[in-house]
Amino acid sequence: MMMRLPFMRPKRRDFSIARLTVKDTPAIATLHREDFVRPWTDDEFTALLSQDTVFGFTVLETGRASAGPAGFVLARLAAGEGEILTIAVARAHRRQGLGWQLMDAVLRELHSERAEALFLEVDESNVPAVHLYRRLGFQEVGRRPAYYQTADKGRSGALVMRRDLR
Ligand SMILES: CC(C)(COP(=O)(O)OP(=O)(O)OC[C@H]1O[C@@H](n2cnc3c(N)ncnc32)[C@H](O)[C@@H]1OP(=O)(O)O)[C@@H](O)C(=O)NCCC(=O)NCCS
Repeated sequence: MMMRLPFMRPKRRDFSIARLTVKDTPAIATLHREDFVRPWTDDEFTALLSQDTVFGFTVLETGRASAGPAGFVLARLAAGEGEILTIAVARAHRRQGLGWQLMDAVLRELHSERAEALFLEVDESNVPAVHLYRRLGFQEVGRRPAYYQTADKGRSGALVMRRDLR
């Protein structure tokens, strides 16, 4: 049997979660542009982050913080209810648990703030996101038909999902 030498083992990447600040705005706007048909501008992110009710997290590769975030999530907490405003993980870093870690950071924050529930809206054709939310315990509580414009100028429905925090 062939032995695997230690130096041949692929290097395990470590990531850590940090609180999102206004200085992250250009980097997260760039990540957002990768995936959304109507990307938000730097100014829109800056305006959201200046609101007291809005908070978020980035995920950074350990030792490579200067490379910018590998993903981020933006959320709002108002009147005891949380809402995911947006979440994105860079394509090169998908399916490594980073989306999960970002959502977990939001859930922890909302627990510590004694929020009752977390809501979000997601394009029903967005398989990765819908799977992620279902695995995190979100349940469908509504549907808005033809809510999103798709890249091919079509329309697709939005699912409204809720996760109980009590
Ligand atoms: C949705 C998104 C944030 C998920 O990020 P991610 O870091 O790749 O997700 P994770 O690695 O944490 O995956 C956690 C779970 O989500 C589900 N999931 C993630 N990607 C999936 C895919 N392509 N297909 C099916 N299920 C998927 C799986 O259940 C996965 O667990 P598993 O890998 O143990 O099976 C990412 O795909 C993304 O940035 N998409 C573009 C932006 C977007 O659509 N945002 C959501 C808008 S509401």
